[in-house]
Amino acid sequence: MATNITFHPGAVMQDERAEHLGQKGATIWLTGLSASGKSTIATALEQHLLHKKLHSYRLDGDNIRFGLNKDLGFDQASRVENIRRIGEVSLLFSLSCSITLTAFISPYISDRDLARSLHEKHSPPIPFIEVFVDAPLDVVEQRDPKGLYKKARAGEIKDFTGVSAPYEAPAKPEIHIRTDEVDVKGAVAIIVEYLEKQGLIP
Ligand code: PPS
Repeated sequence: MATNITFHPGAVMQDERAEHLGQKGATIWLTGLSASGKSTIATALEQHLLHKKLHSYRLDGDNIRFGLNKDLGFDQASRVENIRRIGEVSLLFSLSCSITLTAFISPYISDRDLARSLHEKHSPPIPFIEVFVDAPLDVVEQRDPKGLYKKARAGEIKDFTGVSAPYEAPAKPEIHIRTDEVDVKGAVAIIVEYLEKQGLIP
C-alpha cells in the first residue's frame, strides 16, 4: 500500500476537455456469459462509432488477459481483481472522452457495482451504462465457438462460468439485449439509440 502520495488535479476541467474534443466520455459495460456475444457486439459498435467519427476503444476480457491482467486466473479473487482493474482503467479512458466499451463476463454483481460507483462517484460523474448481453446457457453452450463449454463439461476447465462458477445476472441494467433474439446489427442499433437519447453522442 502506497503512502505519502498526493493527488494532482491538473488544469483541464472535464467539461472543457469534452467541449474542445467535441465528445463526452462514457463507459458501456457489457456483461454476460462466455459466447453470449459481448465481444462481437463491442467490436461492431466500435466500428460503428468510428465511422461516425467518434472516438471509442474496446477493452476485451481475452485481450486484456494477455497483458495488463496476465497475472490473473479465474478463481473468484482473480475475477474480483480483474474487474476492479478494468473498472479503474475504463474510468481513465472515459475521462479522456473516449466511449469505452468493456467486454468482460464480470460475473459478480458487487464487482460491476464497484465499477459503476467509481464512475458515478467521480466528480464530475462519468456515465456508466450496463448492458446485459443475455443468452440462455443452452444457447451459448450450443454456440461454444472456442470449445470451452465442452471442455468445462468434461472437467478439463475448472471454475467455468455458467458450468462450475456462478454468473449473477444484472437486476436493472440500463440495456438488456437477448442475443438469441436480436442480431449484431440490431444490438448495435439498441445501444446507439440509447446513447443518442442520453445525449452522449450526436
Ligand atoms: S471475468 O469473469 O470477467 O474475469 O472473465 P473475462 O476476463 O471476461 O475472461 C473471459 C474469457 O476467458 C476465457 N476463459 C474463461 N471464461 C470463464 N471461465 C473460465 N474458467 C475461463 N477460462 C478461460 C473465455 O474465452 C472468456 O471469453 P468470452 O469472450 O467471455 O467467451
